[in-house]
Amino acid sequence: MSDPKFIALTPELHDYVVRNGAREDDALAAVRESTAALGDVAVMQISPDQGALMTMLTRLVGATKAIELGTFTGYSAICIARGLEPGGRLTACELEPERAEAARANFEAAGVADRIDIAVGPASETLARLTGSEAEAYDFAFIDADKTGYPGYYESCLTLLRPGGLIVLDNVLRGGTVLDPAADDEGGRVIAELNERIASDERVDVAMLAVADGITLARKR
Ligand SMILES: C[S@@+](CC[C@H](N)C(=O)[O-])C[C@H]1O[C@@H](n2cnc3c(N)ncnc32)[C@H](O)[C@@H]1O
Repeated sequence: MSDPKFIALTPELHDYVVRNGAREDDALAAVRESTAALGDVAVMQISPDQGALMTMLTRLVGATKAIELGTFTGYSAICIARGLEPGGRLTACELEPERAEAARANFEAAGVADRIDIAVGPASETLARLTGSEAEAYDFAFIDADKTGYPGYYESCLTLLRPGGLIVLDNVLRGGTVLDPAADDEGGRVIAELNERIASDERVDVAMLAVADGITLARKR
């Protein structure tokens, strides 16, 4: 018998959530369709319901300065950019030049290119540059790049955020493997360790959401 405090999502129920809890417009649908054509890698893209959550969180924080680590073809970045305050800016970090180019085209088509600076290359390098000059200047951070990099990204984002700013970490359940990461799943072990560390990190308020593949909200105190 299932615990009455949560339900397991079926594909039908997830469709229901997307239909009634997200407003994926033509621009975002086009990004989803063009990304699907890339094949299996498309699984990396966030879902429409998570996209709606990203826009909502950005707006609730009142973000004018945001950073994303792991942009891929730009779906989540568009969602964040849409939640920014007027005049706000998003720094979108992507390792692969081809993906950054695809994201750039998608930002143009979605009408948010004027709000997004794309940083091509390892996110750690962009963060090293920014933490030196922009400590406490950011309101919002989304971490969705290589999983082994998460602990360092988390620390850098804490430096970048003002008190009250929000870090959103994606894939914190890692398909359920965080319960017992395989010996050869370094990303799983890193995420599981980081989850435990954030749970008792007095520098942040924390809420882990069982949305999509698991999302942690860490609000800097
Ligand atoms: C899960 S995908 C991001 C999905 C994206 N947020 C979306 O909604 O479409 C992860 C991305 O992080 C990029 N990435 C991997 N390692 C990186 C690094 N060290 N620095 C920056 N980006 C990295 C990958 O190339 C990939 O495009």
